[in-house]
Amino acid sequence: MEGCLITFEGGEGSGKSTQLGHVADYLSKKGYPVMQTAEPGGTEIGKAIRALLLSGRHDPISPKAELLLYLADRAQHIEQVVRPALKNRKVVLCDRFTDSTLIYQGYARGIDFAEMKSLLSFAADAVVPDLTLLLDIDVEKGLLRLKKRAEINRFDRESHAFHQKVRQGYLALAKQGPSRIRLIPADQTEAAVFETIKKEVDVLLP
Ligand code: TMP
Repeated sequence: MEGCLITFEGGEGSGKSTQLGHVADYLSKKGYPVMQTAEPGGTEIGKAIRALLLSGRHDPISPKAELLLYLADRAQHIEQVVRPALKNRKVVLCDRFTDSTLIYQGYARGIDFAEMKSLLSFAADAVVPDLTLLLDIDVEKGLLRLKKRAEINRFDRESHAFHQKVRQGYLALAKQGPSRIRLIPADQTEAAVFETIKKEVDVLLP
């Protein structure tokens, strides 16, 4: 038996990283062996790729180059971190995964989905999450939360229209996408969002 993979998705300021921390504490207390990780930047080389992608020092980055950098980050992360943890029967909690690429590089940047599909699966070594918690928040509210954060990255500075596209893309994915995706309304208190998430997690890991 292998472990399982739970991914956290959502637009800027949706609170997914905070909720990932709560889920990690909750599952650890229940006795599950948990590993927390994130993309981009879950490995040493991934940290360097993250800096290339997000600092804004290398602009302009072409959409295709951007896509391939995210996929390079993922390929390393899967081989070095995610697969070994799954083999060790860990519950892997990952902040962003393939759906982020689908939405940001596909839906928002406009790279053709049919062209991307096999690349996405190749980079992820065909790993598919068991559960995806998709946190949804109004764009303005999310961006307002961001302003309180220390590090503002290249994506945070994207236009309002770009962030709207990201939100619409995620909502469409939740509607038409695979059944592993759960849409979580994130415009509530941290505790209320966690209560909703806990119910979903309990179904997968009683
Ligand atoms: P983070 O702020 O959640 O760590 O994510 C960094 C940024 O990278 C975020 O704005 C979304 C973006 N991103 C993509 O555009 N494509 C991807 O495949 C991933 C994983 C993240």
